[in-house]
Amino acid sequence: MAGQDRVAEAFAAMPREWFLPEGQRRSAAYDGPLPIGHGQTNSQPSTVAAMLRLLDVKPGHKVLDVGCGSGWTTALLAHLTGEAGSVVGVELEPDLVRFGGDNLARTGQPWARVEQAVPGELGWPREAPYDRILVSAGARELPQQLVDQLDARGRMVVPVDGWMVLVEQQPGGEVRTERHGSYRFVPLR
Ligand SMILES: C[S@@+](CC[C@H](N)C(=O)[O-])C[C@H]1O[C@@H](n2cnc3c(N)ncnc32)[C@H](O)[C@@H]1O
Repeated sequence: MAGQDRVAEAFAAMPREWFLPEGQRRSAAYDGPLPIGHGQTNSQPSTVAAMLRLLDVKPGHKVLDVGCGSGWTTALLAHLTGEAGSVVGVELEPDLVRFGGDNLARTGQPWARVEQAVPGELGWPREAPYDRILVSAGARELPQQLVDQLDARGRMVVPVDGWMVLVEQQPGGEVRTERHGSYRFVPLR
């Protein structure tokens, strides 16, 4: 199936309402961010779709989801990797680690899990390298700690200074970056 169709298929398989607090579920069709507590949001669906299309996740990939919040992106990524792959979502807010982890568990994809992020440490370096890294919070500059967690042919999608940036590791160690439109995100802390 083409990359575009696989993303649409993942959206159909992992409905947004499964990842929203009860009071927000009737707004699931709204194409904007929705509150999930602690000043954080479940991301805008069209933005998530654009990020996943840029990320180009293949079955069997090993993926890191930074700022996994409600668990929605982790579940979408797990659908895209299939059971031959793996996804680790990391989240700083302890209540959201529980909320996102519970939401994810209900999707029946045991090759994906949510971990409590370690303050002061970006990503999940102990299991690096990753084929793909998705970052759902905005950095002020390209986070080198995450670039270092990419595989030699890895790809990362990360909002940097208001721009959606695609980062591609090139064989030989060069890192290529490309801007793909401007977006608003909660800050990467
Ligand atoms: C836009 S929100 C949630 C996005 C999530 N993909 C969703 O749709 O529910 C971004 C999340 O990043 C988290 N966050 C911010 N900085 C982080 C960091 N350094 N490590 C892990 N999580 C972080 C925030 O707590 C927030 O829950």
